[in-house]
Amino acid sequence: MNQEHGAERATPLTRIIDATLQRAGGWLPFDRFMALALYAPGLGYYANASRKFGHMPSTGSDFVTAPELTPLFGRALAVQLAEALAKTGTDELWEFGAGSGALALQLLDALGERVARYRIVDLSGSLRERQQQALAAHAGKVEWLAELPAEMRGVVIGNEVLDAMPVQLLARSGGAWVERGVVRSGEGFAWEDRPTELRPPVEVEGAHDYLTEIHPQARAFVATLADRLKAGAAFFIDYGFPEAEYYHPQRHMGTVMCHRGHEADGDPLADVGAKDITAHVDFTGVALAGQEAGLEVLGYTSQARFLLNAGILPMMEQATLAERTLAARLIHEHEMGELFKVIGFAAGAPWEALGFAEGDRSHTL
Ligand SMILES: C[S@@+](CC[C@H](N)C(=O)[O-])C[C@H]1O[C@@H](n2cnc3c(N)ncnc32)[C@H](O)[C@@H]1O
Repeated sequence: MNQEHGAERATPLTRIIDATLQRAGGWLPFDRFMALALYAPGLGYYANASRKFGHMPSTGSDFVTAPELTPLFGRALAVQLAEALAKTGTDELWEFGAGSGALALQLLDALGERVARYRIVDLSGSLRERQQQALAAHAGKVEWLAELPAEMRGVVIGNEVLDAMPVQLLARSGGAWVERGVVRSGEGFAWEDRPTELRPPVEVEGAHDYLTEIHPQARAFVATLADRLKAGAAFFIDYGFPEAEYYHPQRHMGTVMCHRGHEADGDPLADVGAKDITAHVDFTGVALAGQEAGLEVLGYTSQARFLLNAGILPMMEQATLAERTLAARLIHEHEMGELFKVIGFAAGAPWEALGFAEGDRSHTL
């Protein structure tokens, strides 16, 4: 009976995770589990055919992102990207993790002839078809790549990409640091901690029990990008904090969250492949990874400040009331305005970027 029940609940994705667990001796660090849950070919959350992005659960979507919410996001961002293209003498945009294609469409519409090529790099092959439909009007300019070429020139953009990169979990338990991983338990998966030499990048004050994440994959991604980007700039927008805030003693439960049907939960081991798994971004780590690999930080600020600097207010004044209401969520402190941040990098000599002209917080990194 139990076995039958177990067989019913098993999915092709959980079978792949089981096989990987077995090969690894029964325990997987969380980043390997998260990578399979999100990106196992054809089956992981970002590799399967589910809808994911949208306004309402009734459309079958799980969460909304800024470009899905309102085209004013892309229009305001385009002001910064136009400046970046001009300052760096480049004419290509590179978008990582392009989702439904909404941001690409907004940017291509806004930037017109200033963009000669729009290249999309995404781990998710299943989203490509959706992006091709969304971008049909610009088909001649758009190109898809499964991985980074050896050399790139242009302006890079990534909205909510860094938060989708697998993280390792570290716990301080009874005063000792352990790495939290995943084991099979009956019909499901369970947590198991192992001793580790790994530590958060800054000391976490106190001796109380504490759970947090480290982000080697996001750092490696930024370092690789920095290495390949021979001229241009890069802008990443995401939720997160500088490391002093990230590893604050009071943030003792970590930031890993799941999203499904526009509801959030904290259990990545359940309904694997059917929901998004994310962690907040350590922007100090991102800045350091970029700098160590040769990029210059152009600025770091809240999404609200960045969009205001880019002139979203006059754009909102021209918009309908309904559009204005949605755009207000991008800059409202209690919605996306403060939790979301923007970091900008230059490949080559730095310049004064308009998005960080007022309220630059680079000194907090
Ligand atoms: C939360 S979604 C954001 C989608 C879109 N940017 C938006 O704002 O609606 C994260 C996307 O990042 C992609 N992604 C994650 N890691 C990536 C990587 N290393 N390179 C390219 N894309 C990646 C995922 O496949 C997914 O499409």
